[in-house]
Parts: sequence; structure tokens; C-alpha cells
Amino acid sequence: TWTMVNIVEEQVERIREQIGDDGRAICALSGGVDSAVAAAIVQRAIGDRLTCVYVDHGMMRKGETEQVRRDFEEVFSALDVVDAEDQFLDALAGIHDPEEKRKIIGREFIRTFEAAEVRVFGGLAGGDATAWLVQGTLYPDVVESGGGAGTSTIKSHHNVGGLPDDLQFELVEPLRTLFKDEVRAVGEQLGLPSTMVWRQPFPGPGLGIRIIGEVTKARLDLLREADAIAREELTRAGLDREIWQMPVVLLADVRSVGVQGDGRTYGHPVVLRPVTSEDAMTADWARLPYDVMERISTRITNEVADINRVTIDITSKPPGTIEWE
Ligand code: XMP
Repeated sequence: TWTMVNIVEEQVERIREQIGDDGRAICALSGGVDSAVAAAIVQRAIGDRLTCVYVDHGMMRKGETEQVRRDFEEVFSALDVVDAEDQFLDALAGIHDPEEKRKIIGREFIRTFEAAEVRVFGGLAGGDATAWLVQGTLYPDVVESGGGAGTSTIKSHHNVGGLPDDLQFELVEPLRTLFKDEVRAVGEQLGLPSTMVWRQPFPGPGLGIRIIGEVTKARLDLLREADAIAREELTRAGLDREIWQMPVVLLADVRSVGVQGDGRTYGHPVVLRPVTSEDAMTADWARLPYDVMERISTRITNEVADINRVTIDITSKPPGTIEWE
């Protein structure tokens, strides 16, 4: 559509002016549609003066980093994949509070980008030249992080309210006034692959905010298995577009008694959180078909040791948010 063409052309022009003829930028790719579209716009504006950085913080879903590497290498000429699992998990050790988790994750992301910037550009940040950081921040992220007029913080999105005070980057955020459906339209306009454009939203802090309690490697591995099964069954049922997203949440500090075979079990519950939405500002709980719920429940409890109960969240937003933290 011609509005999307306008948005792209206008942003490309603005970014050329902002970054200048020899400025260089790093784009924080999350694997999701927002940062991919932001990066594609900036690549159009400044070409190979853009380097994309994808951080594997150890809280990605099963197989996700490999998938991102495959998909994104096609589209972005310079892609730097950073393994930062130990760094993030060490920083999160002993932390239970959701906002504290979000702030720590936001801070560690920036530290990782600073290190990447030194590696790629030799350390412009903090020097005389400007180091630009491209982010896929959307309008709802700004509002819910307390950046909109007359709003209070609901959650510190890792790329807005979670940023450290001593940030050494200047931000480039070409999607800051857009909603998700508009971003998808722009992505199609730019010719990005439809797997990228239609990928369900996944939060930057990843599974870290879907473990209720302390984040540990063992808990992440458990949740990764349950989540992979839930996603596989949703896809098999052909519901990927109808369902906006379906977080799987691990109640890591809760245990309940169960029975399997002849034995007693004492395991953790997971919560399925399927929602429908237009823009994530509001959402309705999704009426998943019973047979889909049944397959997910049976498979998770059979295939994932230590998870012995599957529950479903039937709260809309408001009053619930989509993610549990
Ligand atoms: P909530 O939980 O606030 O989520 O209803 C609204 C939408 O935003 C996603 N989300 C995030 N995305 N960084 C992101 O990139 C974050 O820190 C973050 N927190 C929530 C969430 O998955 C949903 O689509």
C-alpha cells in the first residue's frame, strides 16, 4: 500500500540524515519482526555500514538461535551472533522480582552491544564519533514502559524502560510510532520473508520472564521442552495466525502431587497462555479447541519429566497482561 511505501521512504531519508554519510550503526536483532523490519529500513538507508547483532542470552526457545542464523543470513549481509548465556544467567542468579529481571536483562543487552561495537567498529561509543544503536521499539512498548503522555510504567520493556542511564549509544528507532500490524505491512512492503513477517511476538527478555521465580539453566531447559511441544501442536493445528501468541509459563517455585504409572510424582505446573489480539495493548484469551489442548497436555506430561500438570489461563488483558511478568 502506498502509505507503507511513504513510511519506508520517509524513514530511510530521516535515517540517512541522522546517521550521516559515514556514520555506522549496530542493530539489535531479536529474531522477531520488529527488529528485522527496523534493520531492513536502516540497511536500505546506509547499506553495509550497518552490522546486525543477535544475542543468544540463553533464554531463547528450542532451536531458535539456529533458525535465526539461517533466516537472517539471507537478508542481512553482516550478522554477528553472540553467545552470552553465561553472562546473562550469572547476572540473573538469585533474582525473583520481575522488574528487577527486566532491568538486568536490559542492562546486559546493552553491555553486549557495547562489546560488539568495540569488536566491529573499534569503539566509537564514548569517543568523538557517534555510535548508533538501531532498535525495533514500537509505539505500545513506549506507552507501556511509561514513555507516553500521562501513563505509568506497566512493564519496563527491555529496550525502553530497561535501558541503563549511562547509555553510550544514540538510538535509531524507525518504528517508534507504529503498531505491530503496520510493522508487518512495512515488512511485506520491504519484501522480507513471510516467516519473518508473520512470526508470533516473542519478548526480548525471552523465557526469563516466563519462569516465575529464579531463572536457572535447568529451569530454562524444562520450559524449552514444554514450549517446543506446545508450539509444535499449535502449528500442526493450523492456528499460528489465528492465535496472536501462546506463552508457556513455568511455575518454577510451585509443586503439586501427581500420579504416573504406579508412582507418585511431585512436579511443576506449566500454564498455557493463548491469546488473540490486534496490537497487544489489549487481548482476549483464546478459545483453543479441546482436542488441541488435550494433545498439548498429554504430550507435555508424558514427554517432559518434572512437569506433571498443564493449566490454561483464561484471563483477558486487561486485567491480566499477556506475559506473566
Ligand atoms: P504484556 O505482557 O505487556 O505484553 O501484555 C505485550 C506484548 O509485548 C511483548 N513483550 C515484550 N516485548 N520486550 C519485548 O520486545 C519486552 O520486554 C516485552 N515484554 C512483553 C509480549 O510478548 C506481548 O506480545
